[in-house]
Amino acid sequence: MLDKVEELLQNVDTFTASTKEEVESFRIEYLGSKGILKSLFSEFKNVDPSQRKEFGQALNQLKKNAEEKVKSLQSNLEDQSLSEQKYGDLTRPGEPIALGARHPISIVKNKIIDVFNRIGFTISEGPEIEDDWHNFTALNLPEYHPARDMQDTFFIEKSDEAKDNVLLRTHTSSVQVRYMENNEPPIRTISPGRVFRNEDISARSHCIFHQIEGLYVDTDVSFADLKQTLLFFTKEMFGKSKIRLRPSYFPFTEPSAEVDIYWGLETETDYRITKGTGWLEIMGCGMVDPNVLKNCNIDPTKYSGYAFGMGIERIAMLLYQIPDIRKFYENDVRFLEQFKSAL
Ligand code: DAH
Repeated sequence: MLDKVEELLQNVDTFTASTKEEVESFRIEYLGSKGILKSLFSEFKNVDPSQRKEFGQALNQLKKNAEEKVKSLQSNLEDQSLSEQKYGDLTRPGEPIALGARHPISIVKNKIIDVFNRIGFTISEGPEIEDDWHNFTALNLPEYHPARDMQDTFFIEKSDEAKDNVLLRTHTSSVQVRYMENNEPPIRTISPGRVFRNEDISARSHCIFHQIEGLYVDTDVSFADLKQTLLFFTKEMFGKSKIRLRPSYFPFTEPSAEVDIYWGLETETDYRITKGTGWLEIMGCGMVDPNVLKNCNIDPTKYSGYAFGMGIERIAMLLYQIPDIRKFYENDVRFLEQFKSAL
């Protein structure tokens, strides 16, 4: 008899339930009016008097354990249903969090930075609100110089004296000046950033866009160094290995050139974007004008340098075949989502 009670004690101990119904049928089995305990108690009178004390204690223990078991299982299930009401089914698989995408301008900017980092260029930045000196004068564009008209400027403060003007920078070439003023050659730096021009917004131009400026100043820097660096860049960036430099004019470089890459004429799009020539203009460049070096306290008899500047939007439009520059600023998720897989 005692053995049987021991066994039942163990059963009670290990019993678990996951529904209210299971708990209820356990309660009825053990504690109900026709349950196990009832029938064990009714056998009490048949137990040998010498064992009655021990048997009685074991029975009481069993009853107590069964009651406690029922209580604790009931309250566990109640807690669970409370948390279910609050949080829903906690065992359900989670909902995936929608991943965002990097903006194509950031992707292309990072790619360009990566290419130049590999050949030793550092990154530098400057302010978007500039003074006249850094945006124009130091870059060999004195007041009344006709080349100032090349870039329509947003003025924040327009003063009688040009040197006191405060403006939104029209190009990242201003960072060249700041960098040279604060660093000694050898200098190898690229400066990405936002620039502003008072231009009509169309499919091809915008009043806000991004540029990357490059600057290399050291002893004996030559035009050949510039060409080779640009060739490396176009190979890495576009996988194209033919470039040409067309003579051009920028006040801050002498000589100056426009860089074209040979895009090819394989598809109809190639014909359209290259206007049937196969060539595409991608940036301006040149040897830093000695006047600019002088303005930044670098001795032009000792040092020479090259510089280049390109529009990030233009590169992105070519890489991803985007026909309209305004797409970059509309924040239409259907456009932006397409760049999910990119870096
Ligand atoms: N700053 C020029 C622009 O905004 C681009 C440029 C051309 C930068 C030639 C340069 C350069 O450093 O050498 O159109």
